[in-house]
Amino acid sequence: MTELAGARLRRVGVIHGPNLHLLGTREPELYGATTLDGVNRALEGLAADLGVELEGVQSNHEGVLVDWITEEAPRVAGFLVNAAGLTHTSVVLRDALLGVGRPFVEVHLSNTSARESFRHRSLLADRAVGVVYGFGVESYLLGLRGLLSHLDS
Ligand code: DQA
Repeated sequence: MTELAGARLRRVGVIHGPNLHLLGTREPELYGATTLDGVNRALEGLAADLGVELEGVQSNHEGVLVDWITEEAPRVAGFLVNAAGLTHTSVVLRDALLGVGRPFVEVHLSNTSARESFRHRSLLADRAVGVVYGFGVESYLLGLRGLLSHLDS
């Protein structure tokens, strides 16, 4: 394995979609009381234990996420993605993730299957390595473990 490939294997891009900046105060009965900083801290803690580096973004704008995915892809081994509402609507986010050719895991805090029917469809899930939803912050941690296990396999 080249040095570059080795370095890339140790970095994961974390994508938080629209409205996740409001975590902590946004519909806490659905999303819990943890802020986005809290989610990122929990992820950083696990990443440190597992020897992985994280690079994260939160944006309310689809195009910003597309640009970020394109820029980060050469430096990361895969992506951990909570695309939030874009999960259910965004062809361009799907195209960006498929276009850069990196494996990704889809995560959601809430159990989207137990909510409105428009949340049952994901435009990402069929191309994701796996999907974790309904476990609050733990969904992200399980998703990161799943992605790393996939990358190691
Ligand atoms: C979400 C679920 C989506 O349906 C919703 O639009 C979100 C958050 C979750 O993490 O549970 O913004 O992705």
